[in-house]
Amino acid sequence: MWEARPPVDATCYQASAELSGFGSHVASEAVLGALPVGQNSPQQPPLGLYAEQLSGTAFTAPRATNQRSWLYRIAPSVGGSASEPLPSRLQADFSDAAAVAAPDPHRWRPLPLPTGAPVTFVEGLVTMCGAGGPALKEGVAIHLYSCNAPMLDTAFSNSDGDLLLVPQAGALHVVTEFGRMSVEPREVCVVPRGVRFAASPAAGSSGARGYVLETFGPHFRLPELGPIGANGLAEPRDFVYPHAWYEDRTCDFTVVTKLLGRLYATKRTHSVFDVVGWHGNYAPYKYDLRRFHAVNTVSVDHPDPSIFTVLTVPTNEPGVAAADFVIFPPRWLCAEGTFRPPYFHRNCMSEFMGLIDGVYDAKKGGKGGFEPGGCSYHGAGTPHGPDAAAVASASQADTSRPTKFDGGLAFMFETSALLRLTPFAADPSNGMLDTDYGACWEGLPRLFSSAGVANGSNGK
Ligand SMILES: [Fe+2]
Repeated sequence: MWEARPPVDATCYQASAELSGFGSHVASEAVLGALPVGQNSPQQPPLGLYAEQLSGTAFTAPRATNQRSWLYRIAPSVGGSASEPLPSRLQADFSDAAAVAAPDPHRWRPLPLPTGAPVTFVEGLVTMCGAGGPALKEGVAIHLYSCNAPMLDTAFSNSDGDLLLVPQAGALHVVTEFGRMSVEPREVCVVPRGVRFAASPAAGSSGARGYVLETFGPHFRLPELGPIGANGLAEPRDFVYPHAWYEDRTCDFTVVTKLLGRLYATKRTHSVFDVVGWHGNYAPYKYDLRRFHAVNTVSVDHPDPSIFTVLTVPTNEPGVAAADFVIFPPRWLCAEGTFRPPYFHRNCMSEFMGLIDGVYDAKKGGKGGFEPGGCSYHGAGTPHGPDAAAVASASQADTSRPTKFDGGLAFMFETSALLRLTPFAADPSNGMLDTDYGACWEGLPRLFSSAGVANGSNGK
């Protein structure tokens, strides 16, 4: 599809002018005529712009997975001062020497919104857990952010992996090389590896907070649908790309790059958000979780949560994900004779959960409970499931009639990797760690009685 310049004050996702379609090859011009026709790198690109390719995959990746975009910008990305290291709370080393194994269930209260001194999105990032690393492009990291100040004259570029941003409190205004996106709670966006962007709390707000899934390997894709058929779950057309937008501004500009988990700053003399037109299939995008087309049982039992997968990152083993982004959306519950909340389980995958708003139907009570903005971690093999309060209510509930679960939106980052917690996440003094989480399973009633039951002893 081809889009002319949108109205000056338009957001990037007006229904009348969407650049949509997951993985689509799209084109956008902030000034008509910015894109060359019939070739990508003319001797003299239109409007005196520079042509620059941003590769998202190896040049020789198969066509089905090959991703790249061409950007037509006022100045090429080269140049700038020598990079200087910056302090941060980010981490990409999840070796035993740098991170902590966690065999027990963990739960955290929300990362507080900053008060007082200004904290930008990049400054407010902190790593909670991860596995693998960016050096060999394998594994994931999970971060939280909490910020109260805009990224002025600054861009962030992550060389380590793709970033899935999940706002929980406050909208994020995300300016990228490809255009602008406003992303509010119940929406998400993905900023692929190497795309420069600035994320800021919405103007006039007290701040913004949320979750970040970083994947070091392949890019996100839509899950297979299998027997579900051609429709359902996240529909490709609901993924929306920004329109080209640029600023022609000379200023002291800083580009912060994350490389191998460390931050480096380089100075420029103009804004890097100077892309006047672009085309390709490697670009940031957003998705409204409220458009998710949930599929569920209409007979018995609670399906595995994989039916709620929004995005996935595969491993080389079929059906096994390096990362799944799964939501637990509002939906009708109609399974008869069934314990309707999530079942007790031990998963060979590792689960990191967050709560965007409301409540999660498997955690009704407990001391403090599972709060919006909070998170939990159940590593591979760690037993977990509904708390005692959820069992008490759901095991006695009337299942002869459907009920609507519309009390909140939880999500899960699930990975086949074995995660380790960062020292920050594992530190009880961080003010977030719920050291009494295990108490939520106290009080589960004993229902079995051996009185009057023959001891089978394997039937002998
Ligand atoms: Fe689970």
